[in-house]
Amino acid sequence: MQWLSLAALALVAPANAMLRFSCSQLVVDRIDPLVNPGQAPSPHLHQIVGGNAFNTSMGPERDLPTESTCTSCTFSEDFSNYWTAVLYFKARNGTYKRVPTFANQFLEPANGGITVYYIPPYDNKSKVTAFKKGFRMLVGTSTRRQDGKDNEQRQLSFRCWEKNFGGEQGAPGTGKDTKNLPNKPCPGGIRANHFFPTCWDGKNLDSPDHKSHVAYPSSGSFESNGPCPASHPVKIPQLFYEVAWDTRQFNNKAEWPEDGSQPFVFSYGDATGYGTHADYVFGWKGDALQKAMDAFCNVNCPQLKSQTTQNANKCTIKPRVQEPVDEWLTELPGGMAVTY
Ligand SMILES: *[C@@H]1O[C@H](CO)[C@@H](O)[C@H](O)[C@H]1NC(C)=O
Ligand SMILES: *[C@@H]1O[C@H](CO)[C@@H](O)[C@H](O)[C@H]1NC(C)=O
Ligand SMILES: *[C@@H]1O[C@H](CO)[C@@H](O)[C@H](O)[C@H]1NC(C)=O
Repeated sequence: MQWLSLAALALVAPANAMLRFSCSQLVVDRIDPLVNPGQAPSPHLHQIVGGNAFNTSMGPERDLPTESTCTSCTFSEDFSNYWTAVLYFKARNGTYKRVPTFANQFLEPANGGITVYYIPPYDNKSKVTAFKKGFRMLVGTSTRRQDGKDNEQRQLSFRCWEKNFGGEQGAPGTGKDTKNLPNKPCPGGIRANHFFPTCWDGKNLDSPDHKSHVAYPSSGSFESNGPCPASHPVKIPQLFYEVAWDTRQFNNKAEWPEDGSQPFVFSYGDATGYGTHADYVFGWKGDALQKAMDAFCNVNCPQLKSQTTQNANKCTIKPRVQEPVDEWLTELPGGMAVTY
């Protein structure tokens, strides 16, 4: 049984060494080079951060550090791409408005996007093997509309923030965090939490479902230094995304559904939140990430080169798919049907 037990991933005094950094919004676009390579448009809209070599095709032959000319991440040797679906607000009159992302706590100059964590082992001594060039993976299942009650679902959760990042301060996925979208207005916005698997088969950079080449510990958890299964013996860093959704402007209950349900829907047509998912394509330069993990780097990591957040904010690209995404829409981009 694997359970999240990040006893105190408190931000001010982390219980463990971990890289935590902002990657500002690179682009909002209806492409997905992992699940729908080559397609423009892909079925649903995403928000993407990281290196500017991001495109519809991201095969393992691509060399992101040499193809990118900038990254929206503060660690400037990180040309990886990180992406998730986009959240929309559905008003009582049936129209949709895109919910923006905003900067996470202590990362305030960032232009929204994703807060990325790479976490080394909690014993502060055993090693993880950093991802190899071309490695990619997916966590979450966009078709879920109820609690899957499995290892994967346990890695995905939402925090309903009180004002100014207030409220629950425990580890993501603990306390009052929910696996479904919060069913009440959140005065400080909603944070989505995505933990990726931490064991790798040691051979495949990808797999047909983008998941089978990685796995969860066979017992215990990454946080309790649980062992990897024999099928996936290589321990990899714990990759974790937080997305801060700025729902604050949509908290007027008079605009919420009359039946009392919550009004937010993901761009793939999910009004529950159980289908939340996140995508990753590794693109660090050389062995920079391995060095940072070996050094048990923290928020500040002298082993890594960094840039100012203001500079990272300047790294943006134009969407490949030209379509309205930000005005009041009568349907979700791609006409995705909403399911509950
Ligand atoms: C690991 O190091 C952190 C400081 O980075 C410390 O707070 C924590 O107690 C250490 N954990 C163990 C198991 O030694
Ligand atoms: C993406 O690929 C297309 C053609 O495949 C190319 O025209 C375009 O410049 C690329 N965009 C970026 C940002 O690399
Ligand atoms: C629908 O409601 C939103 C929020 O009140 C409003 O901004 C928008 O103009 C409305 N659209 C129509 C077509 O009435």
